[in-house]
Amino acid sequence: MVDLFVEFVKSLLIIFPAYAANGFPPLASGRKPIDFKRKWFDNNRILGNGKTFEGFGFGLLTGFVIGALEAYLYPGLNAYATQFGVQLPLINLFIGFMIALGALCGDLAGSFLKRRFGLKRGADVPLLDQWNFIIGAVVFSYWFTEITIWMFLIMLLITPIFHRIANVIAHKIKIKKEPW
Ligand code: CTP
Ligand code: MG
Repeated sequence: MVDLFVEFVKSLLIIFPAYAANGFPPLASGRKPIDFKRKWFDNNRILGNGKTFEGFGFGLLTGFVIGALEAYLYPGLNAYATQFGVQLPLINLFIGFMIALGALCGDLAGSFLKRRFGLKRGADVPLLDQWNFIIGAVVFSYWFTEITIWMFLIMLLITPIFHRIANVIAHKIKIKKEPW
């Protein structure tokens, strides 16, 4: 039997750097769009003004810092988990960086898709907006650490809930334009 609580706790190690990478870019007030304001063949922007170099860089830095903190704590945490027969997914500086990078690239892929469907910057696409960065983080990191299918499913399940709460707060305190 899979212990879903254990899978949940393990998934937090992947979630924290990914959430940081996804949540901090609005604070960068970026001005330089990654697509250099260029358009795709469909005459819509490639990514749009919501994806900037400053936001990407700040997200990468904050995600990396959270990953580095986890890497620092990892030996102790894993020793503790081992007492319960649990092996935590490995987190080191490189893996933390890959989680953050993957989250940001997944977010870019999400915006690319939104623009291809003709949706404006900031349009709310339930699930795509919340899953893009989680899928990106997992795709980039699962080669290097153990991410079970249960962890992945738990991440997909809980992220929309946390994402919505965080965005409503970010909107209230005026960090984000839209409450999503
Ligand atoms: N942001 C940024 N650079 C990134 C990602 C995000 O500058 N690489 C900032 C932008 O100010 C963006 C805000 O964070 O508006 C919120 O991010 P997100 O909701 O992902 O972007 P949207 O503005 O909704 O744009 P899109 O429709 O392309 O998702
Ligand atoms: Mg958005």
